[in-house]
Amino acid sequence: MSEWQKTDWREKPRVQMPDYTDQDALHAVEAQLSKYPPLVFAGEARRLKKHLAAAAQGEAFLLQGGDCAESFEQFSADSIRDTFKVMLQMAMVLTHGAKVPVIKVGRMAGQFAKPRSAPTEVIDGVELPSYRGDIINELEFTPQARIPDPAKMLQAYTQAAATLNLLRAFSTGGYADVNQVHAWTLGFTESKKAEAYREVANRISDTLDFMKAAGVTQDTAHTLQSVEFYTSHESLLLEYEEALTRRDSTSGNWLAGSGHLIWIGDRTRQPDGAHVEFCRGVLNPIGLKCGPSMTSDDLKLLMARLNPKNEAGRLTLIARFGAGKVAENLPRLIKTVREEGANVVWVCDPMHGNTIKSSTGYKTRPFDSVLREVREFFGVHASEGTVPGGVHFEMTGQDVTECIGGVQAVSEEDLSDRYHTACDPRLNASQSLELAFLVAEELSNLRAARVNRAAG
Ligand code: PEP
Ligand code: CO
Repeated sequence: MSEWQKTDWREKPRVQMPDYTDQDALHAVEAQLSKYPPLVFAGEARRLKKHLAAAAQGEAFLLQGGDCAESFEQFSADSIRDTFKVMLQMAMVLTHGAKVPVIKVGRMAGQFAKPRSAPTEVIDGVELPSYRGDIINELEFTPQARIPDPAKMLQAYTQAAATLNLLRAFSTGGYADVNQVHAWTLGFTESKKAEAYREVANRISDTLDFMKAAGVTQDTAHTLQSVEFYTSHESLLLEYEEALTRRDSTSGNWLAGSGHLIWIGDRTRQPDGAHVEFCRGVLNPIGLKCGPSMTSDDLKLLMARLNPKNEAGRLTLIARFGAGKVAENLPRLIKTVREEGANVVWVCDPMHGNTIKSSTGYKTRPFDSVLREVREFFGVHASEGTVPGGVHFEMTGQDVTECIGGVQAVSEEDLSDRYHTACDPRLNASQSLELAFLVAEELSNLRAARVNRAAG
């Protein structure tokens, strides 16, 4: 068999990708992007893979979160900072509960292209092509805005580079120093959970003071002053992905240079399709969304294709069944993984199976369903004796009203107040923190059960 090429996907059936009308313009953009520097480096992707391998064993836990769709219009330093802050807060709560390192991965710096449930959208009898994310076309409901424009890939690249630059500065420039644990609180997260967070933060501060007094922090100072923060997005727009794919000079292998982890969506995971073909050839850790329609046979094929050497940390299965559907779907896929002896990280996405339309006409998600799916995910892993390796959320540090419920009790009527998402509804900062406490509780119960078993 000849060696994998980054263009091989072009021979395979493709879905959910735009038909660019101006081929010359497309080729010019691809040529330009191919000359730009990659956004991430192979060593970083390999390091993330190692952390994920630990998560598969229950020795680390993945927190993946960010926008459903990054937007050109809402791009700002403040929104990046606030999402980063909430993720740090969530990670603190999780680390405190789970007593394992939390791997922080943003749906950021590249999460621009969206698969859609229908190719067109009808409003008041007018039918136009669907919006597919800012890297492809525009949200505005006009024929002109919905034409796919390849030049948007260049703007997405620039925004991704600027976002990553800021994230790298926040991660290592003192902002993420654990001694700042109190400073990550956002002004508007005034709720019982904010209080609970302050308590966790106080306990962490106390511990740090103790460590300082005992002279422990000398060696670990660097570890505590910075965090590793990784980026991820759905590998959907393959022209963009291919143009940023480069050969790693150390190993000779191919790296998708667009982000650390890339995932395959639930709508583009055809084993013989273009998206699987592209992802199988790059060395990055790969995510695979698993919805209710994922069959055992498909999963077997996909695991063989995406991780033929059964490398630890390479493949993350992101379960997104919907509350009430986990018990009928997760055990059968766990069985398949077990039968194949496959090495995977199990992650719960409690967002994409729980989208509904509110009576007021908004696409929303009931916070209770999100919580319930997380609980069900942990419940199944507890009874199967398998490892829940992480969670995947659509969330923002902004004080939006997009998902209903939570301690601030966002109602259907409130949705119109601050509904800013370009695509799916996100958890706001309070809801994200509330969810982190629930996950921390599940993890701490799991840990207690393990300790008991070891003792008993
Ligand atoms: C997403 O993560 O934004 C998404 C579209 O998910 P899924 O492919 O699971 O529907
Ligand atoms: Co989404």
